[in-house]
Amino acid sequence: MRLLAAPLLLAWVAGATAAVPVVPWRVPCPPQCACQIRPWYTPRSSYREATTVDCNDLFLTAVPPALPEGTQTLLLQSNSIVRVDQSELAYLPNLTELDLSQNSFSDARDCDFRALPQLLSLHLEENQLSRLEDHSFAGLASLQELYLNHNQLYRIAPRAFAGLGNLLRLHLNSNLLRAIDSRWFEMLPNLEILMIGGNKVDAILDMNFRPLANLRSLVLAGMSLREISDYALEGLQTLESLSFYDNQLARVPRRALEQVPGLKFLDLNKNPLQRVGPGDFANMLHLKELGLNNMEELVSIDKFALVNLPELTKLDITNNPRLSFIHPQAFHHLPQMETLMLNNNALTALHQQTVEALPNLQEVGLHSNPIRCDCVIRWANATGTRIRFIEPQSTLCAEPPDLQRRPVREVPFREMTGDCLPLISPRSFPSRLQVASGGSTALHCRALAEPEPEIYWVTPAGVRLTPAHVSRRYRVYPEGTLELRRVTAEEAGLYTCVAHNLVGADSKTVTVAVGHASFQPARDEDQGLQLRVQETHPYHILLAWVPPPNVVSTNLTWSSASSPRGRGAAALARLPQGVRSYNMTRLLQATEYWACLQVAFADAHTQLACVWARTKEASPCHRAPGGRPGLIAMLALAILLAAGLAARLGAGQPRQRVGGRPLLPAWAFWGWSTPSVRVVSAPLVLLWNPGRRRPDPQKGKGYHPHSSTPETWPLLSDRERTRITFWFCTKREVMT
Ligand SMILES: *[C@@H]1O[C@H](CO)[C@@H](O)[C@H](O)[C@H]1NC(C)=O
Ligand SMILES: *[C@@H]1O[C@H](CO)[C@@H](O)[C@H](O)[C@H]1NC(C)=O
Ligand SMILES: *[C@@H]1O[C@H](CO)[C@@H](O)[C@H](O)[C@H]1NC(C)=O
Ligand SMILES: *[C@@H]1O[C@H](CO)[C@@H](O)[C@H](O)[C@H]1NC(C)=O
Repeated sequence: MRLLAAPLLLAWVAGATAAVPVVPWRVPCPPQCACQIRPWYTPRSSYREATTVDCNDLFLTAVPPALPEGTQTLLLQSNSIVRVDQSELAYLPNLTELDLSQNSFSDARDCDFRALPQLLSLHLEENQLSRLEDHSFAGLASLQELYLNHNQLYRIAPRAFAGLGNLLRLHLNSNLLRAIDSRWFEMLPNLEILMIGGNKVDAILDMNFRPLANLRSLVLAGMSLREISDYALEGLQTLESLSFYDNQLARVPRRALEQVPGLKFLDLNKNPLQRVGPGDFANMLHLKELGLNNMEELVSIDKFALVNLPELTKLDITNNPRLSFIHPQAFHHLPQMETLMLNNNALTALHQQTVEALPNLQEVGLHSNPIRCDCVIRWANATGTRIRFIEPQSTLCAEPPDLQRRPVREVPFREMTGDCLPLISPRSFPSRLQVASGGSTALHCRALAEPEPEIYWVTPAGVRLTPAHVSRRYRVYPEGTLELRRVTAEEAGLYTCVAHNLVGADSKTVTVAVGHASFQPARDEDQGLQLRVQETHPYHILLAWVPPPNVVSTNLTWSSASSPRGRGAAALARLPQGVRSYNMTRLLQATEYWACLQVAFADAHTQLACVWARTKEASPCHRAPGGRPGLIAMLALAILLAAGLAARLGAGQPRQRVGGRPLLPAWAFWGWSTPSVRVVSAPLVLLWNPGRRRPDPQKGKGYHPHSSTPETWPLLSDRERTRITFWFCTKREVMT
């Protein structure tokens, strides 16, 4: 593997070389070699012309004799030379570059360069060198560049580089080093560029690079580094460019980065980071460019992930197949940011707030993301011309269906709705996860929506976990991450993440298996589901139940037995996990109702529990809640939902239970074609939010579109939610 060794510079030199004509150098030239005057760049990139003898690729086994005395560049690449004696080169007083790469040196002692005081550049890459003894390069006092990459070096003596006080650039990448010794660098006080990636170094020790007070660029790519200790970069006061490309870092090495205050370019590409958390990149006062590309595990860029980076101009977060979430406030105080590349991720949106937090933003790359064209991305068409979209014709809506494949930029503002449902990215965590017994894991659940959603988790036992919940095994963070610690077989089962806002809710489940025992959801039919009537009132009935473990979804349906085709006769609510009671509202007084709770398990089997209940007689002072002005408008919703349920019913008729009463009320079998099903937006009560103040019944009934504490939920099936969002957003008045 060739590491990306300053590819830009090389390309530039190559380009310049091509432009300048090569002039023949009229001297007696060794057979088959070419003697020419060629453009040449010093290691500090200043241009010169060099008298060059080019003997590349000639199957030579020794340095040719009688080279022209004035030779400045001697190219012997791709030969079979195993040995160079002092006398073979000592008569070339002006030799500045010697290329012995791709030869057959296996012992550094076979390269005797003692008398080359002018040599600036020495290429020994792609040989078979395995060790370097002390003083291996004695006599090369002017040397500025030393290429030792792609050898078999496994041991370098502490004083191997003694005498190289002028060395600027050292390539040690792709060898067999197991440790980095800071004593090597004590000999190299002027080193500016160090490439040491591609070695099997287990860990970078504290102060490993401390003697390199003039280092500007450090490449630690492809080393399988798992962790960078806090003081690993100590002493690198002038470091400008740092690459951790292709390592095993699971976390941003924040503390280590604090030791390099001058950093301008940071490459963390191809590391298994799962998230970029609050303050991971903070107060890096000179950082100009940051790369977070090609990360298979990256799911989320959380709130305040990048804070106070006053010189950051370019941010590359691309080709991360699971990256589905960038918090609206992920970026804070990035006043110079011009280019934001976010293409080829799993992003459904980029929040307007994210963009507005970047006052100097010129262009954004969002193409090749599954963009959901609803409220969150609405700004794209509304923002004037300030922000340029890179590849706007490949920046397409993936959802909703009627906007599919339309360029996001060209969907008129009005066609996207003003509120939107939380949507948990299908790629944010797997649907199945194996954890070793006693092991720990983290599941990152995120949803971007407007208004910003709240997230909670439900354990297999049905316990609702919020950030406030503290326990030995679980911890939930406000941004939605569930941490499972030191799990035992008892924690195995189905976990559900629920994201909700005023508009609605979404959920996603994951089966966690612990140890080798494969997890089977319990199918204990005896522990039947029981639905209880907790309270009855003239216009509402409170139902409660104990959810069985490992439930995937829960539906509640109810209808009035006496007037099945009457207004609002049948209703269906799809309940998020963790709900244990439900307030059926807008009922008729003194009427009998039939309610059924159906829960579905991971293996697709379901359980049903039904109950009769009768509302009380209203006392004369009570008044029925006003008519249902929005009922007509709700019909469209109802049809959609009915279609969903009808499809399911069509697949298999429900079983009959003892007692003669049908498992589903009669209307379930004939009522679906009539649009009499009402979608419910009644308050979810009891245990739902035990710590939260109850809504004041005097202050409006249930739905508060602008309050931050939702008490009512429109509950929808997955299939319909996109389309229905539109209804909720535009016909919101019907919900009140
Ligand atoms: C070496 O370079 C110097 C300075 O450019 C020059 O005067 C001298 O003639 C060169 N030596 C040979 C052997 O060409
Ligand atoms: C918004 O969409 C319309 C219709 O496609 C288009 O004419 C207009 O230029 C778009 N506005 C912006 C800011 O891209
Ligand atoms: C159920 O809803 C009704 C009507 O909205 C309300 O008056 C009542 O307080 C609710 N019950 C509970 C327990 O929240
Ligand atoms: C709940 O209702 C939705 C929408 O009709 C349906 O897709 C889902 O399968 C139902 N779930 C259960 C547990 O009945």
